Order: sequence, then C-alpha cells, then structure tokens
Amino acid sequence: MRGKRIIAGAAICASWGQVASAIDLDITSTDSVKSAAATIAYGMMSYYTGNHTGDNPGNLPSPYYWWEAGSMFGTMIEYWYYTNDTSYNPTVTAAMLSQVGDNDDYMPTNQTKTEGNDDQGFWAMAAMSAAEMNYPNPPDDEPQWLALAQAVFNEMVTRWDDSTCGGGLRWQIFTFNAGYTYKNSIANGCFFNIASRLARYTGNQTYADWAEKTWDWMEGVGLISTDYKVYDGTSDTDNCTSIDHIQFSYNQGIYLFGSAVMYEFTNQSSTWQARLEGLLNSTDIFFKDGVMYEQACEPVNTVGTCDTDQQSFKAYLSRWMAATAKLVPAYHDTIMALLKTSASAAAAQCSGGTDGVTCGEHWYQSYDGLYGLGQQMSALSVVQSMLIDEAPALVTNSTGGTSQGNVNAGSKSSSSSEVITPATSGDRAGAGILTALVISGLLGGVGMMVTGS
Ligand SMILES: *[C@@H]1O[C@H](CO)[C@@H](O)[C@H](O)[C@H]1NC(C)=O
Ligand SMILES: *[C@@H]1O[C@H](CO)[C@@H](O)[C@H](O)[C@H]1NC(C)=O
Ligand SMILES: *[C@@H]1O[C@H](CO)[C@@H](O)[C@H](O)[C@H]1NC(C)=O
Ligand SMILES: *[C@@H]1O[C@H](CO)[C@@H](O)[C@H](O)[C@H]1NC(C)=O
Ligand SMILES: *[C@@H]1O[C@H](CO)[C@@H](O)[C@H](O)[C@H]1NC(C)=O
Ligand SMILES: *[C@@H]1O[C@H](CO)[C@@H](O)[C@H](O)[C@H]1NC(C)=O
Ligand SMILES: *[C@@H]1O[C@H](CO)[C@@H](O)[C@H](O)[C@H]1NC(C)=O
Ligand SMILES: *[C@@H]1O[C@H](CO)[C@@H](O)[C@H](O)[C@H]1NC(C)=O
Repeated sequence: MRGKRIIAGAAICASWGQVASAIDLDITSTDSVKSAAATIAYGMMSYYTGNHTGDNPGNLPSPYYWWEAGSMFGTMIEYWYYTNDTSYNPTVTAAMLSQVGDNDDYMPTNQTKTEGNDDQGFWAMAAMSAAEMNYPNPPDDEPQWLALAQAVFNEMVTRWDDSTCGGGLRWQIFTFNAGYTYKNSIANGCFFNIASRLARYTGNQTYADWAEKTWDWMEGVGLISTDYKVYDGTSDTDNCTSIDHIQFSYNQGIYLFGSAVMYEFTNQSSTWQARLEGLLNSTDIFFKDGVMYEQACEPVNTVGTCDTDQQSFKAYLSRWMAATAKLVPAYHDTIMALLKTSASAAAAQCSGGTDGVTCGEHWYQSYDGLYGLGQQMSALSVVQSMLIDEAPALVTNSTGGTSQGNVNAGSKSSSSSEVITPATSGDRAGAGILTALVISGLLGGVGMMVTGS
C-alpha cells in the first residue's frame, strides 16, 4: 500500500553520475553554501508541478502525499531565510495560501477525509516558521501565518482525547480512518511543537500550558523514555500500555526544538534544560561517525528500505537541531559539529542523475541511486543550516515579528461542524504519514493483545 520507491532508474543514473561531479561544498564559505543550497533546492522544486498550467497549486504528484508538500514549502521558507534568495517566494506563498481550505485552517476539502493531525501539523509548522522568520506576509485579505498556526492549534485542542490513555491526540482525526486508535508521537509532537512556538511568539501562557500537558502525557505513557528516547506510538486498544519502540529522527527533532523553545520561554528552567539536553543526547542513535542517518530504515551496506515519507525525515531532524542551536547558544557547538559533518557528507553524495547533482539517500555512502523529493529536502535542510550563524534571530511579536494573529482562528472547525464521510475509492487515498513499520506495529500490537490476554 505504501513505500513505493523509485529505484528503477538507479542503474542508468549511476552511469550518468560519472558525467558530472558532485556538489562542491565548502561549509566555511557563505557563497559556497548558498550555491550548493540553490542547486539542491532547484532539484527539489523540480518535483513540484503545482505551478504548471492546469495543475493544482500546493499539491505534489504521486507518490508524494499532501503533508510532504507542506513540509517542502516549509523548507523553502527556510531556504529564503538562510540564503535571502527570493526567487521561489511567489511560488511558495501561492502554494501555502492555496491549501488553507475554506476555514483557513489547512483542512482543504480535497484532503479532509484522509487528513491526520500530523498532515495538518506540517503545514501549520511551515506557517509558524514563516511568522518566526519574518517571511513576507500575505496580502491583508488573505489568512496570515500566525493565525493559520493558531487555527491548527485551536483545533488540536478540541481533539485532545481523555477518553483513553489518560489523554493525548490520536494520529487520525476521523474515526473511519485506519490509525484512529493509534496515539502517536508525531501527532502529539506537532501539537507540542506548535504550542511551544506560539507561547514564545505571542507570550500567551495558555499555549505553554498545553505544551507542558502534552509533554507530561508523552512521558507518562512512556512514549518519551526516562533517557529521552522518543518512540513511535501506542494504541488505545490496550489503553496505551504497549509501545511501538521504533525511533524515527523526526520524532526526536520535533520534541527537541519544542523543548528548546520552552527552555527559552521559561527563562532557562532546570526542568526544560534537562529535557532539552536529554533529547539532544539521545539524538546520538541517528548519527554514524558524525553523519546523520535514519537508523530504523537505512541499514548499512544494504539497499535502503525507507518509504517515501521516511526518506524526508532527516530534513526535520536537521531543521530542528539547527533551530535549537540558534535559540540555545549553550548547545550551539555540540549541534553544529554534528550538522557540519552531516552537511559535508550529504553534499558529497549529491552526485547522481542526469544532472550529476541529484542527491541520494545514504549520506554515509557515495551516491546510491535512491533519489527523490525527500532526499533532496533532507540534503537541502542540512546544507542550508550551515548559514545559521548569519541568519537573523527567530522573532516574536515583541522582537520585530509582524505576522498578525487571531486567537479564535479555526473555531469553525470542519471536523466538528460538518459531517465528514469516509473517503471513497474515487478520492485520493491515504494521507497520513503512514509507515509500513507503523502498520505492522499496529497489527503486531493486536496480535500481542490476542495472545497475551
Ligand atoms: C514552477 O516552479 C519551478 C520550480 O520552482 C520552476 O522551475 C518553474 O519555472 C515554474 N513554472 C512556472 C510556470 O512558473
Ligand atoms: C481540489 O481538487 C480539484 C479537482 O482535482 C481541483 O480542481 C482543485 O484545484 C483542488 N483544490 C486544491 C486546493 O488543491
Ligand atoms: C488508562 O490509562 C490512564 C493513564 O495511564 C489511566 O489513568 C486509566 O485509569 C487507564 N484506564 C483503564 C481503564 O485502565
Ligand atoms: C521570564 O522573564 C521575563 C522578564 O524578566 C518575565 O517577564 C517573565 O514572566 C519570565 N517568565 C517566566 C515563565 O518566568
Ligand atoms: C547529556 O550528555 C552529557 C555528556 O555525556 C552528560 O554530561 C549529561 O549529563 C547528559 N544529560 C542528560 C540530561 O542526560
Ligand atoms: C540575509 O539577510 C539578512 C538581513 O535581512 C542578513 O542578516 C543575513 O546575513 C543575510 N544572509 C546571507 C546568507 O547573506
Ligand atoms: C503584537 O504586538 C503589537 C504591537 O507591536 C500589538 O499591537 C499586538 O497586540 C501584539 N499581539 C499579541 C498577540 O501580543
Ligand atoms: C491566549 O490564548 C488562549 C487560547 O487560544 C486564548 O483563549 C486567550 O484569549 C489568549 N489570551 C490573550 C491575552 O490573547
């Protein structure tokens, strides 16, 4: 059902790869980093067809799901922030606004039936980045970045579910979608990450309270371990008593940056310092000889098995580690040492395809023929993070932020005021960051319950 990867072209591309050289990156040179980032960004955006005549703005073609478009435009907002290259801004802004939906909450009609909390969350986090980076505001008659993030936050509050497991958000929004019983780290991570950043941006304690509450639930149920490993999820079919222990880099990253924000928001509280430092320490599982890798699905010396979604996960760990380095100087050097070795390795293996600068998946190897949008996005995120020290501070409403908010945004949530029916076979199937591993974990969990009780 998922995990369809483009590997057919690998052999052809390997021979073409000898035609041109890899991206030449000197991480100490601003011009070199900007040039490398521009090359990788061009490769990534070549997957985007939403600006072609007759195509739908904001969408990506198969096999890329809607959420990944949100994360891609978030990456391009950061691309502008890091490089000051404005050439993609009109395309990016148009896409970000085209998917807000009738209620300005990133629940567009075409996606709603299959939309999960994480899908909506990735678009909201892109909007939040736009606010924090002072990315150009939309025209006054369009929804504004801060208000879009607030809309998604407000809707997630209404979805907080105390009926099982003592709380938490479900992965899916609607009962009829597979994964409704799964309470997972990425759905709750989106909520935690957005809540903490809204607290910092607006100064409103209510958002911080929700970030605290989400952390407490995650820790209480065991999705964040005592040594700050973030596990994938748990099911309410057994009241969240068994945990799927798979660790993905994006889960570690999403809580890392949210904790960095809470550490700042609480004026360096010792509680948040321990959480932040613990999460940072436990990123070690995602590095091999200083080079980032997706340890759950990029086994060494074998053809990768990461699915389409997972191929992009290193983008988020890179993004949120860099943002943490920016916000918390005490961890800057530790983080940047890891990102520097990773950026050099990532650029060095961007040496495939007909253009000779296509990025593969395994940064600890040379070009492996496993190309795709997620691989471009991951390489771009880590390479452009080399400009973090030159980039402006992330703003708040009181330090130069100009995005307009609306504390009541999203209150006409389509999830509560309209009757949503299941997707038919005619609808585009399967939003949700649906991993084969998660599904097997779910089934495994059911099996364990049957035999164990
Ligand atoms: C669409 O976007 C791509 C990538 O940014 C760009 O190369 C192309 O020129 C754009 N096409 C149009 C019609 O704007
Ligand atoms: C929704 O799908 C329809 C039919 O494909 C398309 O015309 C429309 O532009 C899409 N809307 C968005 C926001 O992508
Ligand atoms: C389910 O788990 C929550 C939180 O751990 C607990 O408070 C609640 O009592 C449990 N419910 C049942 C029926 O065991
Ligand atoms: C942090 O410090 C600022 C300025 O001293 C103060 O206004 C704010 O209330 C403090 N916040 C917390 C959570 O202690
Ligand atoms: C993180 O690692 C450092 C260095 O090994 C150690 O000193 C520190 O106690 C660790 N912090 C936490 C919260 O585990
Ligand atoms: C981009 O512009 C900002 C000022 O708006 C500046 O602080 C930053 O250094 C510039 N970045 C680069 C890589 O030139
Ligand atoms: C943000 O700051 C502006 C003034 O710069 C102020 O008018 C507005 O009320 C502030 N908004 C919030 C949410 O604090
Ligand atoms: C703070 O946020 C909460 C939750 O959205 C909202 O109800 C409240 O009005 C906000 N307070 C202020 C002062 O903006």
